[in-house]
Amino acid sequence: GRLVVLVSGGGSNLAALLAAHEGPAYPGRVVGVVADRASAGGLDLARAAGIPTAVVAPGDFDDRAAWDRALAESIAVFRPDLVVSAGFMRILGAAVLDRFPGRVVNTHPALLPSFPGAHAVRDALAFGAKVTGCTLHVVDAGVDTGPVIAQVAVPVEPGDDEATLHERIKVAERRLLVDWVGRIVAGGLTVEGRSVTVG
Ligand code: GRF
Repeated sequence: GRLVVLVSGGGSNLAALLAAHEGPAYPGRVVGVVADRASAGGLDLARAAGIPTAVVAPGDFDDRAAWDRALAESIAVFRPDLVVSAGFMRILGAAVLDRFPGRVVNTHPALLPSFPGAHAVRDALAFGAKVTGCTLHVVDAGVDTGPVIAQVAVPVEPGDDEATLHERIKVAERRLLVDWVGRIVAGGLTVEGRSVTVG
């Protein structure tokens, strides 16, 4: 299945998908990487792997709706079967979600509905959570509110800071993402209300 990956940062989740996509048995193929900023390290990973990239930066557009439309267009160029938001730090608007209905997933470094938003790891630590984790979910119009596909629990260790905890989460997150994205492109994703069926 054709995967388009959306990134904003270093792209370690993208790196995991690229490693999997090298394998003959993996049903997913990364066909395009789109970032909201030219500085996203994930773009370098894509280029090194010979995968086409696009940058659609909000600052280049008059308003969010125009950016959202441009983002939808740039993703559509790659004809994705599945759009994977992996460390993409923008809210995906109607133009994207309506263009790829039920085919946009996001990975979040907390056990939703706990700790939605851009500071999930910091918030879990500040709250004093003993267990946190990561969530793969279908993207809906809200912020990290879409139906849950899969989750993995990750312990918070004494002495953790945001970096050590996020790194431990990412180890689990990369595995969750590669595993479930593979299952989705191999068997399909059906969403009925809050319930999700894969395969
Ligand atoms: C991931 O933990 C993702 O869930 C969160 O930001 C991190 C991005 O990491 N939104 P990377 O860019 O994939 O390394």
